[in-house]
Amino acid sequence: MAAVFVTLLLFFPFPSSISSLPFLETRETISADKNADQQNGGSIRINQFSNNVQSSVAQNDREVNQNTISQNKKNTHEGDIYLCESSQNNRGTEQNRSKICRNRNFTRHLPDIIIIGVRKGGTRALLEMLSLHDSIATAQSEVHFFDSDDHYQRGLEWYTSQMPLARPDQLTVEKTPAYFPSVDAPGRIFHMNPSVRLLLIVRDPVDRVLSDYTQVFHNQLQKHKIPQPLEDLLLRDGELNLGYKAVNRSVYHPHMQRWLRVFPRESFHIVDGDTLIRDPLKEMKKVERFLRLEPQITEDNFYFNRTKGFYCLKEEGHERCLHESKGRTHPNVAPEILQKLCKYFQEPNRKFFELVGRTFDWK
Ligand SMILES: *[C@@H]1O[C@H](CO)[C@@H](O)[C@H](O)[C@H]1NC(C)=O
Ligand SMILES: *[C@@H]1O[C@H](CO)[C@@H](O)[C@H](O)[C@H]1NC(C)=O
Ligand SMILES: *[C@@H]1O[C@H](CO)[C@@H](O)[C@H](O)[C@H]1NC(C)=O
Ligand SMILES: *[C@@H]1O[C@H](CO)[C@@H](O)[C@H](O)[C@H]1NC(C)=O
Repeated sequence: MAAVFVTLLLFFPFPSSISSLPFLETRETISADKNADQQNGGSIRINQFSNNVQSSVAQNDREVNQNTISQNKKNTHEGDIYLCESSQNNRGTEQNRSKICRNRNFTRHLPDIIIIGVRKGGTRALLEMLSLHDSIATAQSEVHFFDSDDHYQRGLEWYTSQMPLARPDQLTVEKTPAYFPSVDAPGRIFHMNPSVRLLLIVRDPVDRVLSDYTQVFHNQLQKHKIPQPLEDLLLRDGELNLGYKAVNRSVYHPHMQRWLRVFPRESFHIVDGDTLIRDPLKEMKKVERFLRLEPQITEDNFYFNRTKGFYCLKEEGHERCLHESKGRTHPNVAPEILQKLCKYFQEPNRKFFELVGRTFDWK
């Protein structure tokens, strides 16, 4: 009955400004929840926490600078993890510190959740927003364990050492957008834990190309190099240059197909990166449901910063926005070229929608 209902709804046109598949999303969430139910019967404690770490959350272009985001913000929460993690803290020797950490039962464990991509999709914002939840502990740097042979050879013990300290009831998360296009990552992750929960954040492939270019552009300026104009990269003999990596990386379906050969669809939750920017609460409620977390993130956790033009985060009165490198203005591109891009991505997008069983409001 429910399946029929969903199918029928799909044939009705939805206003394009509204994410058109809340129903399908719900169905996905329900089945994932059932799944999670079996794996994880444990209840989740709620703890209030305070946070006095200035951190940064961006919205658009969010890779780059992790230094501005201090170590797991929940470190300060309860004061204990802070003591455990902070190397500048002089209130005790290394031994004292590790003793305290052991006594409080903070340990590092393999991640329960992995944000696998996509590059420039909003992985940093997603990670930061997840960390608003008290039952989540986040690894702040990209670990690159499963995509790098060098790291992978160091083994799970090394990987565990890269995880944040967490209470026994907390789920840990790491994000490495390079996992999504990696040929080896799906099998290696499955081998670690076949019931790990995977978050994939995607955004309009055309915007992703522009965002990818913008990041490289700024990196080159920083290195005192002269960036190539976008149009030179996008076009070759008047045609779209498919050899341009930023374009190639926006083709999601071959990678998704590879992941789906290893993990069932229920292992994934796909976050709409464009919605996450415009309406973060709506997307984060879906993430909470998928992860079977107690609903904790509320509208009070977000405020719109008019200067920046996007949402920043608020916790217990403390505010933080993504790093300056996030949410940069994209270059202007000639409408003809944009049109070529949109046209090119139509087919790849259709294939992606088919694979994941939902659509996105992409140009
Ligand atoms: C380590 O802990 C012991 C016992 O609690 C304390 O006496 C000592 O001063 C601490 N060391 C440092 C450097 O704080
Ligand atoms: C740490 O865990 C042990 C064993 O599970 C428990 O008995 C103890 O109360 C815990 N300590 C704290 C501070 O939660
Ligand atoms: C993207 O690049 C890879 C590696 O060069 C290539 O194998 C693949 O066919 C390209 N994908 C598309 C959609 O062009
Ligand atoms: C909004 O962002 C601007 C620019 O980054 C910053 O200077 C300002 O403090 C922010 N305002 C609030 C209320 O967070």
